[in-house]
Amino acid sequence: GGYITLDSGYKNTGSCESAVTFLDGEKGILRYRGYSIEELAEKADFLEVAYLLIFGELPTAAQLTKFHDDIMDNSIVDEDVHRILDAFPKNAHPMGVLSSLTSGLIAFHPSSVNVDSEEEMYHAIVRILGQFPVLVAWVMRKKKGLPLNYGSKKLGYVDNMMKMMFEQPIEDYEMNKVVRDALDKLLILHADHEQNCSTSTVRIVGSSHAGLFASLSAGISALWGPLHGGANQAVLEMLEAIKADGGDTKKYMAKAKDKSDPFRLMGFGHRVYKNFDPRARIIKVAADEVLSDLGVVDPILDIAKGLEQEALTDQYFIDRRLYPNVDFYSGIIYRAMGIPVEMFTVMFALGRLPGWIAQWREMRLRKEPIGRPRQLYIGETERSFKPIAER
Ligand code: CMC
Repeated sequence: GGYITLDSGYKNTGSCESAVTFLDGEKGILRYRGYSIEELAEKADFLEVAYLLIFGELPTAAQLTKFHDDIMDNSIVDEDVHRILDAFPKNAHPMGVLSSLTSGLIAFHPSSVNVDSEEEMYHAIVRILGQFPVLVAWVMRKKKGLPLNYGSKKLGYVDNMMKMMFEQPIEDYEMNKVVRDALDKLLILHADHEQNCSTSTVRIVGSSHAGLFASLSAGISALWGPLHGGANQAVLEMLEAIKADGGDTKKYMAKAKDKSDPFRLMGFGHRVYKNFDPRARIIKVAADEVLSDLGVVDPILDIAKGLEQEALTDQYFIDRRLYPNVDFYSGIIYRAMGIPVEMFTVMFALGRLPGWIAQWREMRLRKEPIGRPRQLYIGETERSFKPIAER
C-alpha cells in the first residue's frame, strides 16, 4: 500500500540531510562546511580541506600534523597489490584498475570493514587516504611503462603525490611550484559536490555496512562514466578530434548548435550551474598560470582557447546559459602536466576521495537506514507457468 512517487534520476528527491557541502546553482555558490570554494582554493591546502570535509572543522596545526603523520604511517601498500596491478593488461582503463585495487585492499586490511566506532572509522580513513595516492601513482606509472616508486613521509600530501607520479628513476625530479599549486587547487575544487552520482553511490553502498573501501570502489565505478567524471577525458578527446580534422573550431561550433547533429561541446553547460561554474572560474586562472609558467606550446590548447572565446560570445550559448564547466579546464592542466588522457578521471577520483569519505562517515554516524528506493511496477500482472515443451 501507500503511494510511490516516481522521480527518475532523483531530480527532486532529497536522499539525506547533510552538513558537508552547500551548493546554489543559480547563484554559482559552492561551500564546504560553510567556507566558500574561492577562499579555500586561495588559502587552504588539499589536506586541510580533506580534514575540514571529513571532520567538520579546520584543523589546528597540531591536528593537521597528526592527521598527516597517521596517513603517512598507513601508506605502505602491500607488495602483493603491486603484483595484482602487474597482472592487469597494460591497456586496461585506469579507472577499472583503480576500482579493483581499492576493493582489493580489503583483503589486506579486513579490519577496515566492520567499523562502527569513530575510532575504527578513523583508522580506515587514514589508511585509504595513505594508500589511495600510491595506487593512483602506480596506475599512472604502469600506463607510462615506468617502474613503480614510493613516497616520502617528509613531504606534504600533494608534494608526495607528485613525487610518486613524476619522479623518474634516472632524472632528478624537481617540484615546480606553479604546477604543484595548480594541482592542489584542482584537488580542492573536486573534493566534494554534495549528492552527485558517485557520492550517492558511496552512501548507498555504505548504508548496507559494506565497509568504506567497498563503498569507495563503487563510487569510483560511478565516477568513471562520461556523464559524470569521465567528461574531462571526453573534452580532451574532442579537442584531439577537432585538431585531427584541421582545427576548424567554427565548424564544431556550428555542429554543436545544429539540432539535427547530436554533437555537443564537451566541457560546456551544467545541470545545476546556470550562470557560471565557480570552480571553472578559479581553474581557468590556474590553467593560464601553468601554461605560461611551463611555456607550453600545444595546438590542442590553442583550439581550447579558440572554442572558449567563440562560445562565450555566441548568442546560442548565451541564450542557453552554457559556460565552460570545471572539466573544460582541468583536462588542459593535466595535459600540460604530462598526465595521460585516460588518467584524467583518476585525478578527479583522487580529489573527490575526501568528499566520499566525509559523506560516508556522516551517513554512518547519523545511523542512516539502508538505502532502498521503491519502484512503480509496469510489467505483466499474474501469469501461470508453461512447461518448456509447450512454449
Ligand atoms: N553543447 C551544445 N548545446 C548544449 C550543450 C553543449 N555542451 N549543453 C546543453 N546544450 C543545449 C541543449 O541542446 C539544449 O538546447 P535546446 O534548449 O535548444 O534544446 C539546452 O542547451 C539545455 O540543455 P539540457 O541538455 O537540457 O541541459 P542539462 O542540464 O540537462 O545538461 C549537461 C547539462 C552538463 C549534461 C549538458 O550541458 C552537456 O551535455 N554538456 C556537455 C558534457 C559535459 O561537459 N559534462 C560535464 C558536466 S560538469 C561535471 C560534473 O559536475 O559531473
